[in-house]
Amino acid sequence: MFRGRTRKLQEEILRLKEKENAFILAHNYQVPEIQEIADAVGDSLELARIAQKNRDADIIVFSAVDFMAETAAILNPDKEVYVPDPTAKCPMALMCPREIVAEAKRMHNGVPVVLYVNTLAEAKTEADVICTSANAPEIVEKIGGDKVLFGPDKNLGLYVEKMTGIKVIPVPEDGYCYVHVMFKPHHIAMMRRRHPDAVVMVHPECTPEVQEVADFIGSTSQMYRYARESEHEKFIVGTEVGLVDRMRREIKGKTFIPALSKAVCKNMKKNSLEKIRQVLLKKPHENLVKVPEDVADKAKRSIERMFELSEKGKVRG
Ligand code: 13P
Ligand code: SF4
Repeated sequence: MFRGRTRKLQEEILRLKEKENAFILAHNYQVPEIQEIADAVGDSLELARIAQKNRDADIIVFSAVDFMAETAAILNPDKEVYVPDPTAKCPMALMCPREIVAEAKRMHNGVPVVLYVNTLAEAKTEADVICTSANAPEIVEKIGGDKVLFGPDKNLGLYVEKMTGIKVIPVPEDGYCYVHVMFKPHHIAMMRRRHPDAVVMVHPECTPEVQEVADFIGSTSQMYRYARESEHEKFIVGTEVGLVDRMRREIKGKTFIPALSKAVCKNMKKNSLEKIRQVLLKKPHENLVKVPEDVADKAKRSIERMFELSEKGKVRG
């Protein structure tokens, strides 16, 4: 619970939210003061599902990065979706423009295309199906065949290949998340020496060498649930530090230690309470997420295919 100016801002946002009939979604990497006032906090899969099911709100404010807000806008064509900061973009999503996917499809005719949700809507129009870090191996298995074009995260692709035995052709060659490649095996080894009783959890965007030395690999919310439900009490967390903030606040009686405290996504951290307040007050045009109708229609098919495939069986999410 915050005090002073932060608390006042939070209260004002809660009042404005009521007045505007707004729904605030926040990713697990958002700062704690934003997570506290959000209607839902989660990983990309959970937030996409919530956005898909939301029927009551008039507007959605999505506190995360560009591709997540775009996904919400695509799934809610009748709603206005706003971002607190239009410059909060995921650099990995920018590594995979539509043309690169189209070119890979020409070179590998007939090979299914599975794109990570961390892509822009334009690129999603080239995909057969979308996946998130919570369901990537499951979606690749369900799409069928012995190989897939997969992008943009090469490390997630290698994880999928290892879990499924299906050959992954990376698109582009070397897409990566600058935050998750900061983790090195020696960081994990050092943390294990300091905390020999802790369980090590890492995100599948970390390199295979780091995944190799972890006890649990999962999306941000999968790590959250694993820690909450596990009988263990101490966890070293190998992802962006915002998840550690959430775990410390919500999972009482357990200890969470960042595997690397400088693992901060500065793009996610561009959002602030003040910017959310401005959006609710003024609804600036530049903060409104706009996806051209033809792009949205095509991208929507590949996102909905993910939901359909996930619903056909148990989702690891
Ligand atoms: P999650 O879907 O696991 O929350 O991951 C999103 C992301 O951007 C990871 O860097
Ligand atoms: Fe993109 Fe990495 Fe930031 Fe996630 S943590 S939003 S993948 S840059």
